[in-house]
Amino acid sequence: MKQIVVFASGTGTNFDAIFKSCQSHEIEAKIALLVCDNPQAKVINKAIIEGIPTLIFNPKDYENKAAYETEILDKLETIQVDLICLAGYMRLIGPTLLLPYQGRIINIHPALLPAFKGAHAIKDAFDFGVKVYGVTIHAIDQTIDGGQILAQRAFEYHGHDLLEVEAKIHSIEHMLYPETIQKILNSQETILKL
Ligand code: GRF
Repeated sequence: MKQIVVFASGTGTNFDAIFKSCQSHEIEAKIALLVCDNPQAKVINKAIIEGIPTLIFNPKDYENKAAYETEILDKLETIQVDLICLAGYMRLIGPTLLLPYQGRIINIHPALLPAFKGAHAIKDAFDFGVKVYGVTIHAIDQTIDGGQILAQRAFEYHGHDLLEVEAKIHSIEHMLYPETIQKILNSQETILKL
C-alpha cells in the first residue's frame, strides 16, 4: 500500500478530502502521517479522530528551519513515504527536506499560478477583478509557489461575492487534489514527468 504524508497548518478541509478519497479508494493509498506546525490547528483533531499519526511542533521552539525540519526528516525516515502533500502548510520547505524528497513533494494553491502567488491568493485575485479563477497543483521547489505545474482547473466568475468565489475554489480543490494525487501515485515516472 502506498503511503502519503500530509503537511497542514490550518483547517484541514483538503486533508479531509484526501483522507476520504483514501477511504473510498479514489486514492489507492493511506495517510501515514500528518505534519502540523500549528499546535492550535483544527486539522489536528481531524487526524486524531481518524487515528492518523501526527507530528506537531511549534517552529518558535527551534533555533531555525533546519532544526525542526531535521526532526521531521528523522520521523519520515522511519516510514515509507511515496508522496508528501502540502495542504495549507504555510511555510517554505527548506533544503533539509527538499533535497531528500525532491520530486515527491507537491502543493495545492488556490489560484492559477504563476498569477497570485502567496498566502492571500483568492482575495488578491478577487481584488484584482479577475474573471477566470482556478486551482493549481504543483511540485515544490525552493521558491514560494514555484515548481512545475502538474494540474490546473479554472472557472469563470463574473459576480461580486468573495465568499462565493472561495466556496467554488475549495470545492474544486477537494476534487482536483485527490485526482492528481492518484495520477501521481499511478505513474511509474517521477512526478516531474506527469
Ligand atoms: C487551501 O485553499 C489551499 O489551496 C491553500 O491553503 C488552503 C488550505 O485549506 N494552500 P484547508 O486547511 O485544506 O481547509
